[in-house]
Amino acid sequence: MGAELIDGRAFAARLRASVRDRVAEAAPRAGQAPGLAVVLVGHDPASEVYVRSKGKQALEAGMKSFEYRLPETTRAAELLDLIARLNDDAQVHGILVQLPLPAHLDPRAVINAIAPHKDVDGFHISNVGMVGTGQEAIVPCTPLGCMMMLRERHSDLRGRTALVIGHSNVVGKPMARLLLNADCTVMIAHKSSTNIPELARLADILVVAAGVPGLVRADWIKPGATVIDVGINRIPAPERGEGRTRLVGDVDFDAVREVAGAITPVPGGVGPMTIACLLANTLSAYCHQHGLDCAPLDLDEQDPA
Ligand code: GUN
Repeated sequence: MGAELIDGRAFAARLRASVRDRVAEAAPRAGQAPGLAVVLVGHDPASEVYVRSKGKQALEAGMKSFEYRLPETTRAAELLDLIARLNDDAQVHGILVQLPLPAHLDPRAVINAIAPHKDVDGFHISNVGMVGTGQEAIVPCTPLGCMMMLRERHSDLRGRTALVIGHSNVVGKPMARLLLNADCTVMIAHKSSTNIPELARLADILVVAAGVPGLVRADWIKPGATVIDVGINRIPAPERGEGRTRLVGDVDFDAVREVAGAITPVPGGVGPMTIACLLANTLSAYCHQHGLDCAPLDLDEQDPA
């Protein structure tokens, strides 16, 4: 029997609808809509697509979207000056600087210049530290989406054994911290780990963010495990015609789904959750900044938009 498919598209649609409803309730009380500022430096093609999508989805949720597109040659002082202005701008409740930045700009200095309460990516050192010590904080969007999908499948995560493959600051490390905060027994593997298949076979929950197409094979999987595939890799697809490509994850999906209990597909799994969680983080930041009760997002009673 194949694994249950965890449908990230439907889940994200419910989350966006819930955010939109909350925005419609809160905006008249606050006297303004939530505002999300997205800053893009340079012309990285993938970043251009993400930034467009973030602005579009913010507008669809009833938020204001402020986009800043700066040239590749932007100096650090100019970028820091823009961030300082956005920090002080009462119309802006969330600030996101799209990564990667051009090589001459230090991403840590830039991210740590964002006011922590407007850091809707959850990358500021104070949000990272708060999550690391189990305090309430803004949580990075992709791990937050993964946790939401895991919680839907496992009403209680306590005591489960989890393996996170990948130790980036954007996904792997915050993911491991969130699983630990949920009282999972957590292992982290990365490109220098020598025994990943053995570790994976112990895992009730496997989260893979390695950036290696098809890395995780069926014989690595504990039967019934939940597999969350964060990888988004574009590979050649000659079967679709010359020069065509297709998206695949880090998991050998067709084989792994025969062993796992539940699995996220690529595309249509974690990917759609990331921007929906960015909207949720922006809504939370806005509610806190306006001293409004931030009603929990209700994902059970929503009709997908
Ligand atoms: N680049 C790739 N993913 C992300 C993300 O989640 N946030 C930002 N700011 N940049 C990214």
